[in-house]
Amino acid sequence: MSRKSNKRNYNVDEQDVQKFVLKPESELRFEVDSKNRITIELTSGTAEVFGTELVRHRKYTFGPTVMKAIFTWQGCTITLTGRPEVVYVAKETPMVFYINVHAALEQMRQEAEFKDSKGPTVMLVGPIDVGKSTLCRLLLNYAVRLGKTPVFVDLDVGQGQISIPGTVGALIVERPADVEEGFSQQTPLVYHYGHKGPGDNLTFYNTVVTRLADSINSKIHLNKKVKSSGIIINTCGWVKNQGYQAITHAAFAFEVDVILVVDEEKLCFELHRDVPSFVQIIAVPKSGGTVERSKSVRAKTRDSRVQEYFYGLRTPLFPHVFDVKFSDIKIYRVENSQKKKLSVKLFPVEIGPSLLHHVLAVTFSNNVEEHPMLSNVAGYICVTGVNMEEELLTVLSPQPQPLPNSLLLFSDVQFIDST
Ligand SMILES: Nc1ncnc2c1ncn2[C@@H]1O[C@H](COP(=O)(O)OP(=O)(O)O)[C@@H](O)[C@H]1O
Ligand SMILES: [Mg+2]
Repeated sequence: MSRKSNKRNYNVDEQDVQKFVLKPESELRFEVDSKNRITIELTSGTAEVFGTELVRHRKYTFGPTVMKAIFTWQGCTITLTGRPEVVYVAKETPMVFYINVHAALEQMRQEAEFKDSKGPTVMLVGPIDVGKSTLCRLLLNYAVRLGKTPVFVDLDVGQGQISIPGTVGALIVERPADVEEGFSQQTPLVYHYGHKGPGDNLTFYNTVVTRLADSINSKIHLNKKVKSSGIIINTCGWVKNQGYQAITHAAFAFEVDVILVVDEEKLCFELHRDVPSFVQIIAVPKSGGTVERSKSVRAKTRDSRVQEYFYGLRTPLFPHVFDVKFSDIKIYRVENSQKKKLSVKLFPVEIGPSLLHHVLAVTFSNNVEEHPMLSNVAGYICVTGVNMEEELLTVLSPQPQPLPNSLLLFSDVQFIDST
């Protein structure tokens, strides 16, 4: 294994070209720091990034701050331009294990198609940074490449891949993830939660997960192909104590058939004890390429998700900035209620300077009595200015004014718009 580290500050440096010849079933792993970008070109053979095939002779750009791998089943040659922090070829990968998991799921999908029943509902669990999100992406991509259209559910409110942090969501995957940009986010189903970790309000988190599951379970029957393709659910890395309760809650809410436990044997044992015996629990090895991300990298990733939500990643989006009168909106936060009937309740938030940089959910309802926090949301805006004299909020919004509704939900998630 050759491992090269370059710590100097460079952007994509056209002079810095490295060629790699990969044998079958090996992968090129690289890490790009916060100041650099690299480009990758497949010059011969076939290769894929987490299940998405690379187009030969197309240049793909990665970075800043990414860790990825280019895997080849048949062998390939790759040209890398720029200065990655780390780059090496790995011969040991768990890809054969992963493709066997995919093959088993595919068989369940085919049976479901034949019987016109629901395909497998699969949940991935395990500690942080073991490759759960990556494996979700791989399994979704492999399903889509065989013409399936699975539902991707992301329950990770901190490092999720749908909408922005502080939400749970779902989308139907019809095309492989874009190598650079991930899955297309055209019409996701998004539920507001408003915090970066499930433990901040576990009651509400579990309530939202149940609502999302109910919504998907009622909708999935409307489309035969989606129904037989099944569901793949990503979770966060909180697997101890209450985190474990959140996992079992989600397993019951979604009525999962398969749980893939990445790199945590104890969790397999606990799940065997606590979920019905028809649920298949499979211990999955983690890839040696997964890299532990520091707290600051995780925070940066959250920021860039919000940035991406408003401004796009490679394909630019053009958000709108406008003023909203204090008197035209009402902002609520979700808190636990003492009453038994409904465990969460809306409490008014005073409009003032403390709202600066916070994101707010735009709901589909103007009526507190309709419990808008229990339905999907229209989208998010971000407060970029608070003018107390004129009683105006300046907001960044994906849609032009006016806001479709006056009722907004507060989120802990903040974004400093420096664009
Ligand atoms: N085979 C691999 N080679 C290099 N980096 C990888 C590989 N698999 C995953 N990664 C990277 O490792 C990090 C952690 O993986 P991720 O799937 O986000 O873990 P989790 O969802 O369990 O927290 C991510 O930055 C991901 O891109
Ligand atoms: Mg993840």
